[in-house]
Amino acid sequence: MKRIAVLMGGESEERDVSRVTGTAVARALADRGHQVTLLDTREGVLALGAGETPRIGERPPGSETGEGALALSGSSAMKELAGSLADVDAVFIALHGGWGENGTVQAFFEILGLPYTGSGVLGSALAMDKDRAKRVFGTAGVPTPEWRMVEWDPEHLPTKSDVAALARELSSDIVVKPNEQGSTVGLTVVKRGEDPFPAVEKAARYGRRVLLERYVPGRELTVAILDDEALPIVEIVPEEGVYSYEAKYTPGRSRYEVPADLPGDLAARIRLSALAAFHALRCEGFARVDYRLAPDSTFYCLEINTIPGLTPLSLVPMAAKARGISFEELVERIIESAIARGPRRGGPAPHPAGHPAKQGAAG
Ligand SMILES: Nc1ncnc2c1ncn2[C@@H]1O[C@H](COP(=O)(O)OP(=O)(O)O)[C@@H](O)[C@H]1O
Ligand SMILES: [Mg+2]
Repeated sequence: MKRIAVLMGGESEERDVSRVTGTAVARALADRGHQVTLLDTREGVLALGAGETPRIGERPPGSETGEGALALSGSSAMKELAGSLADVDAVFIALHGGWGENGTVQAFFEILGLPYTGSGVLGSALAMDKDRAKRVFGTAGVPTPEWRMVEWDPEHLPTKSDVAALARELSSDIVVKPNEQGSTVGLTVVKRGEDPFPAVEKAARYGRRVLLERYVPGRELTVAILDDEALPIVEIVPEEGVYSYEAKYTPGRSRYEVPADLPGDLAARIRLSALAAFHALRCEGFARVDYRLAPDSTFYCLEINTIPGLTPLSLVPMAAKARGISFEELVERIIESAIARGPRRGGPAPHPAGHPAKQGAAG
């Protein structure tokens, strides 16, 4: 039995999703006999089992108001958490997007000397920055669609013709998306020859860096990584072309095939590629690597999610199930590997298996 804090909520566009993940994770850990404290970063400690399961709205919570970036220091729940941490063996970070997933909260737990789930500061920060992640993929032999960056600097706004010229360099349909968002928020597919500027303006509402990426027609695949294993590939068949926020979180709006129907050697190559991508960004514990598979069987890595959804509809639990791992076991393994890594200090821990935890610490 371990004492575990499950941290959920946050202030990103994915706050609603995080609350569903956190609630499911907390219940699973409690069912496995752990002593669980469920904490919403806005509301503080919540009673486990009391109240209804949070629900995901049709739209991300910040999309109407543009709110979504309250300072971490302003969160009373974080202070409450910090005050009660003496009693906790590890923290399950069930936050998606923003400071919950980009290395910030990970750094907080490193300073406190507390084990936490998933990737460390570097892996989290790199994976959150799609442009930087894609550059690293390139050096690690992980294929990723060609792209260009637009900087939305209010002092020097890009002109329509600058943006159109960048789009033309890709000579195909393109996807315009914010560099640091998730859940398909702020994303638009722009046909070749159409004006990409309105799509860039829209994406820029979520951050000053905007990606123009070559559109990869074909199939949507995702590979869950658990510890150092690539789980069976999941194919997503959204009702409409793009795997949108709604298609992601509304039951029945997408179909899933697990394992994806692929020739064995192709599936093996994609799984190896996903592991290479995971290691290239210094990810740890678990993650989900998103791919597009073109009709000519070339595949392209879009991004890595270091805290993928763990809701009843989510893809990682689906992949785990195909590997014979129940939701409860999955959650248990994620927390176990966090505890095995121990407190981290400014970098990925050495591999837990067979290595003394304090090795090299004297240097
Ligand atoms: N280059 C692309 N080609 C085709 N579809 C894309 C491309 N980029 C994104 N998409 C679609 O948009 C979805 C979300 O894009 P992704 O890059 O994974 O960002 P996020 O999930 O962080 O919002 C993908 O799952 C896919 O359906
Ligand atoms: Mg994605």
